[in-house]
Amino acid sequence: MKVVILEDAEAVAKYGAAIFVKQIQKKPSSVLGLATGSTPVALYNELIKKYQSNQLSFSQVKSFNLDEYLGISGDHPQSYRHFMNEKLFKHIDINKKNTAVPSGDAKHPLDACEEYEQMIKNSGGIDVQLLGIGRNGHIGFNEPSSSLGSRTRVKTLTQETIDDNARFFAENESQPHLSITMGIGTILEAKQVVLLATGENKAQAIVDTVQGYITAQCPASALQFHANAVIIIDEAAASLLKNREFFRHIERENQKLEKSLGL
Ligand code: GLP
Repeated sequence: MKVVILEDAEAVAKYGAAIFVKQIQKKPSSVLGLATGSTPVALYNELIKKYQSNQLSFSQVKSFNLDEYLGISGDHPQSYRHFMNEKLFKHIDINKKNTAVPSGDAKHPLDACEEYEQMIKNSGGIDVQLLGIGRNGHIGFNEPSSSLGSRTRVKTLTQETIDDNARFFAENESQPHLSITMGIGTILEAKQVVLLATGENKAQAIVDTVQGYITAQCPASALQFHANAVIIIDEAAASLLKNREFFRHIERENQKLEKSLGL
């Protein structure tokens, strides 16, 4: 697990975006795994800037989003489909037909989950999966106690997650309590995983992810199994980690190595 500690949220977004830029430049038909929440927005803004300055094209890119609320359709303003359209897709040259988000209004949600898995397989698999993290260590909507081998399925949200996400809903608007989410097993199959976290309220989840036991109680801890996972965090989110200086040292050495290899 590579842990990169940076000064602030802006640096986190830039570092994360650079990984996606490199990936798309290397393979224009990359398959991206995308995430919602407030954390990835700054990274999406960086990608939009690259597109607008003609440094990047998404015309051949395919994307799969991690999750969606169950019980609302894609045109609902709080749906993750709507979020992705507004925060990223409408600003870049991606073909909307190549963007997949689980359907929150599927008539047969269980079939829709199986189809989603099949679509990911048919695309050749996800090259880089972007992740945020919940305060309770969830990734996607894989809440604590999720099987570490789980696949795309319907998940019940914890009260903590409902409360955390209530800020996006109007006061008397009904808020979904169920979701469709890629499973932890699905996420672990991505060739590379990039997890972003900023702010002190993510510090406990980050220390549990990086230096805790691998346990379903902290779903993100399963990333310790992944051979190519990068955890990009700001000082505040890193504040409970032990050996922070060692992580900084590793990163400096990695940078030197990449430079000398011309990567
Ligand atoms: C939601 C999403 C997660 C996201 C989490 C954290 O629950 N399903 O994918 O990581 O929120 O969001 P934020 O970045 O706003 O803290």
